[in-house]
Amino acid sequence: MTSAEALTAPDELDRLLGKLTLQQKIRLLSGDGTFRTPAEPAIGLRAMVFSDGPVGVRGEHWDERDTALALPSPTALAATWDDGLVRRLGGLLAAEARRKGVDVLLAPTLNLHRSPAAGRHFECFSEDPLLTARMGAALIGGVQDGGVAATAKHYTVNDSETERLTLDARIDPSTLHAVYLAPFEAAVAAGVWVVMAAYNRVNGVAMAESPLLTDPLKESWGFDGVVVSDWGAVTSTVASARAALDLAMPGPHPEWGEALLRAVQDGRVPQAVIDAKVRRILLLAARVGALGAGSSAAPPPAPAPHTARALLRHAVAAGTVLLRNEGSLLPLDATGLRRVAVLGPNAATARVQGGGSAGVFTGHCVSPLAGIRRALPARVEVVHAPGPVPYARPAPLHTGNARDPLTGEPGVRLRYLDATGAQVHTEHRLSGRILEPVAPGADLTGATAVEVTALVTPDTTGPWRLGVVGLGQVVLEADGRRLIDEHVAPESADPTYLHVAPSYRTAAWEAEAGRELTVRAQRQLEPGTGQVIALTADPPPADDQTALAHAVGLARTADVAIVVVGTTDEIESEGFDRTTLALPGSQDELVTAVAAANPRTVVIVNSGGPVELPWHEEIPALLLGWFPGQEAGDGLADVLLGAAEPGGRLPTTWAVRTEDVPVLDTAPVDAVLAYTEGPYIGYRAWRRTGRRPAYWFGHGLGYTTWAYESLTADGPVHPELGLTVRVRVRNTGPRAGREVVQIYVSEDGGPDPADRRLAGYATVRAEPGESVTVPVRLPARAFQHWSPQTRRRHVEPGGFHIHAGPSVADTPLREHCEGGPT
Ligand code: BGC
Repeated sequence: MTSAEALTAPDELDRLLGKLTLQQKIRLLSGDGTFRTPAEPAIGLRAMVFSDGPVGVRGEHWDERDTALALPSPTALAATWDDGLVRRLGGLLAAEARRKGVDVLLAPTLNLHRSPAAGRHFECFSEDPLLTARMGAALIGGVQDGGVAATAKHYTVNDSETERLTLDARIDPSTLHAVYLAPFEAAVAAGVWVVMAAYNRVNGVAMAESPLLTDPLKESWGFDGVVVSDWGAVTSTVASARAALDLAMPGPHPEWGEALLRAVQDGRVPQAVIDAKVRRILLLAARVGALGAGSSAAPPPAPAPHTARALLRHAVAAGTVLLRNEGSLLPLDATGLRRVAVLGPNAATARVQGGGSAGVFTGHCVSPLAGIRRALPARVEVVHAPGPVPYARPAPLHTGNARDPLTGEPGVRLRYLDATGAQVHTEHRLSGRILEPVAPGADLTGATAVEVTALVTPDTTGPWRLGVVGLGQVVLEADGRRLIDEHVAPESADPTYLHVAPSYRTAAWEAEAGRELTVRAQRQLEPGTGQVIALTADPPPADDQTALAHAVGLARTADVAIVVVGTTDEIESEGFDRTTLALPGSQDELVTAVAAANPRTVVIVNSGGPVELPWHEEIPALLLGWFPGQEAGDGLADVLLGAAEPGGRLPTTWAVRTEDVPVLDTAPVDAVLAYTEGPYIGYRAWRRTGRRPAYWFGHGLGYTTWAYESLTADGPVHPELGLTVRVRVRNTGPRAGREVVQIYVSEDGGPDPADRRLAGYATVRAEPGESVTVPVRLPARAFQHWSPQTRRRHVEPGGFHIHAGPSVADTPLREHCEGGPT
């Protein structure tokens, strides 16, 4: 028996438990700070460190110097339909976690794309439960193989942000089990060590107090790990403690400290309930090496930077979806190019991730413009213009445009002040946006205000915009002149709003090119206003018509125009939902004007989730790059120039216009968000309503073509094993390629004849002319319904149609099979 096995043995856990007093046990049930659990030296338990997830491992602190590898957004990972690749990326996350001393990664996010307007859409995999389940299981496997716990979050029905802390999702039990719980069940089957209970309520009960934590999670599915609350989700003592929640974060927690101790002492919470929670926390600690001898084990070596970057670059191409390629414009043949125009607001500034707790500080990061420049031969001239700037929120100062007034180094000076204005603590920082002090031993006792100061040298003359981000009494000064002195009240109590994106104020400043000025922002640290402060300074943007004319002029003179449009981490973020899917600003106008000026126009959409595509039939080539992670530019250039095939297939259906979307609304009415559509979300909703999207779930072109030749299904469906079908496809195009063979099932005599569900998929590779037969396993679950009467899943009586093809709407092959016994 290894030492890890010995520690996780039930007897050993009981022995350790027996050494703890009730006080010691209760201390272990909530955090010791924001992202850490308490140590208990009496039993050889060290603190466990938690970190978000899912695009990278931010680490315990919000410190811009502590950079992280940034993966493509989960939407992009799901677009790969490549379980093996996602597992390898999970391994990379584990290595990052170990490098940063993180034991528990707060990922994957397993909520569904119920509405494309949902703020965290980019952070979830898909509208389909089976694809989400497989991607989640693959990521969990990769992370946990590296000895780091993964966290399946947010359990459950937490699919939008509006009123997210309080909304009550009303959902019928069959839909809950068949659709929204399915990815979590798969996560438990994959052996996940942590599950996070969501903020919201489901059918009237807060998830931190929900019976769903007991059953199905711990009882029917046999989850043996820790249920952690979402951050700040515990608002009760007895109800949450008696539910199957194990760990309240962050902490020390007001409801789970002294109050819980008293509740146990006076019998409102049984001692056995506390023991069961502590036991699970000790098991988790043993699993991640935080208990006993394991706690001092050296972490496995991290992959070399070039290996990690090569994998991330491959992932960009693997998730990029080619939606349209008229006249085979792509891949571009570099030999015929003399001048390439790279246009759009997202071309030169890499927009690699969405916003909120998922955010990481990137180090190395390749913009589309930089990647395309690097990939083209030196003789090809690459010209760039952003077009009209669509983004309103000012950008924080950084090392490229600010200096610390104390040391002169690139960056800013951060100071915490007491009520008399005396300095309590100071640090040099690399960003004008500060989320917390990070110098070792920073002691803020007595601090009542935070201040950021920088030297800024405008490079243009004109009306610059200076700004301060933060709440409470805020002050902004330039060269000692007070420009803002205002009380900014919080607009929301949501921790993400307070922590990541609080309100900002700006003021105009007549700048003179080359003349340095001192800019100072300060805010009072009033209770309930969070910690964030940011100091910003932006040059004036060109007016929209001038910027548009410049971009179109460049397009006209180029052999090919590549337009990178999209969103940012401020438009797609945790904490709020979008109210429209339209591209911000005049980006639609930019695309149509460029396409009119140059018939060889390629559009790359750089967003985490769907945006409107009103012009999609007017342009020859359209790629979705998602939020592609740090290697964005190199990966996209590989696809554009044919070094890699675009591997992506849509994990979610894309509308032409917002108003076409069948399930869009995320606003609760009187605190209730009714899932009245039942199981019909995503492509199932589109098919049911008979509406036509721009591109269906599963769609995506490669650089070759495929014929679907045969499908065999040897029914009947086995009640536990499901069914395996075989599909033969032939590569009918000019180059080797990879195809994602998708299988959908529909029921004989089901309630909706148009309805079908993804039941399985497999990938094939073939040379030109080659045909390949691929087995596709369809799990029993794909044929089952959950019955509220028996509280079990059953294979429906009657038969099934099996459909095979390259998307939900294009299934050239069809077979029939019997349902078989239940
Ligand atoms: C988010 C979680 C996140 C946690 C810790 C919450 O606001 O909903 O996804 O893991 O914060 O940052």
